[in-house]
Amino acid sequence: MKVVKVPKVKAEEVRKFAEKIGAKDKRRLITFDGSFVYIPIYDGFEEHFSGFEVIEDENPVFAKKYDVKKLAREKFSEEISKGIVSFKILGDLAIVKLEGKAREFGEKIGELILETFPRLKAVWCDEGKEGMERKPKMRLLAGKGSVTVHKEHDCLFKVDVTKVMYSLGNQYEKLRVANLVKEGEIVLDMFAGIGYFTIPIANHSRAEKIYAFEINFDAYKLLLENLRLNKIRNVVAANIDSRFTPESFADRVVMGHIFAEDFIEVAVKALNREGYIHYHESVPEKIIERPIKRIEAVCKKFNKEVRILGMRKVKNYSPGVVHVVVDAYVR
Ligand SMILES: C[S@@+](CC[C@H](N)C(=O)[O-])C[C@H]1O[C@@H](n2cnc3c(N)ncnc32)[C@H](O)[C@@H]1O
Repeated sequence: MKVVKVPKVKAEEVRKFAEKIGAKDKRRLITFDGSFVYIPIYDGFEEHFSGFEVIEDENPVFAKKYDVKKLAREKFSEEISKGIVSFKILGDLAIVKLEGKAREFGEKIGELILETFPRLKAVWCDEGKEGMERKPKMRLLAGKGSVTVHKEHDCLFKVDVTKVMYSLGNQYEKLRVANLVKEGEIVLDMFAGIGYFTIPIANHSRAEKIYAFEINFDAYKLLLENLRLNKIRNVVAANIDSRFTPESFADRVVMGHIFAEDFIEVAVKALNREGYIHYHESVPEKIIERPIKRIEAVCKKFNKEVRILGMRKVKNYSPGVVHVVVDAYVR
């Protein structure tokens, strides 16, 4: 879902234009920050707003009429409304997380969402992820179809929500890392999935080559499709366990898996004498330094110097636990 970022002085003019051509997304509210106004538009209208930045609506605010929790409160009950823990749109699918009584009403909630958003073809309930491959447990609530194409940062991602996970909370991180990659770099994406990091890096940087390793065959097949969809040619994708990564070839390693502490050694060895590591971890806030200590311990073991360039929170993982990424320079 997109918004047009407009300086305040131009907002009224652009809003009227968006309404006139039928581009304004009536379900979402116009939002503001400092000197900019964000006007929600439907997908496919981007080109009508050349001269302005069209960006992803990271935190859409739905008009009351389209507020799923409010609708569920009116149609069912307060208890059911409270049990809708999250509601997200991925391409033409909706994904909800439900708890308590709302779980029993899943199908009804799914139908309500399809009535409210006629553009969507199905509603799925996210019931968690399993194992190192982060395989999703999904339940169909309404409609049909599990495959969609989601657009983010001008990248297309074909996803089958029953086979691979897709985190909408990492949007900024994908672009941030892509913007750090310097011209001519060799990048390794150790947990490539369907191309969450590989595709933005290929599209938004001038990397020489990106090696994308993925163990799950379903995710790997989607990764290959996504490389084709995005017309990307500088990626070497392999359906392998990144434990068997070759040594001394990369300038930068992306470790986009929150349970990857056992792979820090492999990442350090993959660097071509020196380079950057972006290490993700899910960590209790009380021991927030743990990922840094883990990187430092591995570097010490291999007699490498390490400079921690920063650590940022990607998103909340569970109460008291956060998903962070540490940027480290190793030599
Ligand atoms: C789903 S992604 C993590 C989410 C992603 N960072 C995002 O932003 O949404 C993690 C991927 O790592 C893959 N994976 C897990 N262990 C692996 C290994 N040893 N080698 C290669 N890929 C692996 C999983 O199959 C999965 O596709």
